[in-house]
Amino acid sequence: MACYYYVPFQGHCSFRKPTVSFSHKFNLLKTSHHLSSSFKPFFSEFEQLVFGVDVLKSAVKSTAVKLLDAFVDSAFEFVDYSYPLDLSQTIAAPVDELREAVPVTNINGNIFPQGVYIRNGSNPVFGGLKSTKSIFGQSSPLWVEGEGMLHALYFSHDNDGSWTLVYNNRYVETDTFKLEKLRNKPSFLPVVHGDPLAVFFSFLLNLLRFGKPLKNVSNTNVFEHSGKLYSIAENDLPQEIDIFTLEALGCWDVNGAWNRPFTAHPKRAPGTGELVTMGIAATKPFVEVGVISADGKELLHKLDLKLDRCPLCHELGVTERYNVFLDFPITVDVNRLIHGGQLIKYESEGYARIGIIPRYGHADSIRWFKVKPNCTFHIFNCFEDGDEVVVWGFRALASVIPGPEPGSKGVEWFPAKFKPSPGKPMEDAISEDQLLFPRPYEWRLNVRTRDVKERYLTGPNQFPMEFPMINGAFTGVKNKYGYTQVCHHEPSSATGMGRFGGLAKLYFEDRNTGISSGGNQVDGSIEVEYHMFEKNTYCSGAAFVPKEGGVEEDDGWIITFVHNQDTNISQVYIIDAKNFLNEPVARITLPCRVPDGFHGAFVPIQLQNRITRMIPEI
Ligand SMILES: [Fe+2]
Repeated sequence: MACYYYVPFQGHCSFRKPTVSFSHKFNLLKTSHHLSSSFKPFFSEFEQLVFGVDVLKSAVKSTAVKLLDAFVDSAFEFVDYSYPLDLSQTIAAPVDELREAVPVTNINGNIFPQGVYIRNGSNPVFGGLKSTKSIFGQSSPLWVEGEGMLHALYFSHDNDGSWTLVYNNRYVETDTFKLEKLRNKPSFLPVVHGDPLAVFFSFLLNLLRFGKPLKNVSNTNVFEHSGKLYSIAENDLPQEIDIFTLEALGCWDVNGAWNRPFTAHPKRAPGTGELVTMGIAATKPFVEVGVISADGKELLHKLDLKLDRCPLCHELGVTERYNVFLDFPITVDVNRLIHGGQLIKYESEGYARIGIIPRYGHADSIRWFKVKPNCTFHIFNCFEDGDEVVVWGFRALASVIPGPEPGSKGVEWFPAKFKPSPGKPMEDAISEDQLLFPRPYEWRLNVRTRDVKERYLTGPNQFPMEFPMINGAFTGVKNKYGYTQVCHHEPSSATGMGRFGGLAKLYFEDRNTGISSGGNQVDGSIEVEYHMFEKNTYCSGAAFVPKEGGVEEDDGWIITFVHNQDTNISQVYIIDAKNFLNEPVARITLPCRVPDGFHGAFVPIQLQNRITRMIPEI
């Protein structure tokens, strides 16, 4: 299961307005200790050849790019890439783009939130992901690297009391998306997996031809800040999105102040409304954390964590006073790749620590807490509890990213790692076949005594879970409830991808005492309610929607896309969070399939006047 797209390399958003110069990037690549000495003679000669003239501003540039294109066309062959299994045979297969809203009339229920439910996900262009074969060997992408497509369901409560619902989908038209569509063929060479020489030259050729080594797929998440909606993948800048047309309006670089990758999970700081973000890059500075003003116009603070490795931290946390960073041993390392290893790798024996950083702190004000090695991608919430900073996340003991080790087969590795082993204890000496299962986990970090306490929150027989949600009003402060998608072992094992056959509600304050330990609870584990779907029905992009005027934390709904694999019908379910075990309060059947995806969000806006213009026939 993963919604992660990890970006190893720094890039900029626009070819027309580069924030990092071409020569600067080349120098980063050239002088970095990451590079094998065997490549240095090549760089020296190449630099003399390329930078002796201003290739970016002269006709020489065009000629050079054409020559490089001709070289790529002759030396590289794009081939379909199926990883871990053939995605065309799953509900993850890409769908056609609508670009215009269509009415939704097959509705079961009459209770809806008012606004837009929007979800991002991978929808590869040109029929699917592509690998390459060349004289340098093979190179491949990550299995999550398809171009982002937004799926949106609009709910409008009309003046006569009736509801109008429309659905739309559209690609996130980033600069690299437009470039490849203009060329009408795959053009960026994949650079994440493969033979070191092939990966190296693919990286270099992308950089020379397009000014960036990776596509901006913008496929992972959507978020709102200061009244604007953004699409994001963590390898590049956010794309501002017109919420009514889903058109990409260009990248958001905070008025030029943020010129590096941007996390797919920025956090709104409690109290101030500031947006806390981070950017992970494969070259120094590996990690920078930023604080953006509540109006989105100003970068108020930027901090280089001064790390000596590039941890693939997917999500950061916030509390009232702190930013929380996970420095865990899943890392991006170009040097490792060049020496024949994996660009992205989880090292189970590597050190793990959590950094507590004052909101406007500096590198020397970070307090690091050593924790047990693990792989954690997503966080429910962080908050301060007396002297302790509490982090609730999902701990796993292996990573679905990047996937199988070199030499092993994806079709064997993934199913084995997802194989169920009910009843086995969730200790660190866990059997191989549960390593990919994320489980709710708690770290308590005492900022006064420096003590660390950590533990699983649920018992060994609980389902693995991922894609956490909470009521957003509680981000950074103590909350009582969390919600997740529930992973099903067998379909996940069969496809090698997370299949989420239900939802869970976690009661963080309700600890089982052992006296009435029904079901799968064990002493000290928290109460969990499961809302499971019909057979062969799986969800993606679930989001918490607070009820307007709600008083309690769980006054709201969980909204999610679901797909029934037997009928090939996609729907949206709305489930009352307070009555979580009840049937959905609404089931809305969509006019076309919505493939598996990553994260979703709900934007509460009034649509009465606008929705009639979205589909004139209404
Ligand atoms: Fe994520």
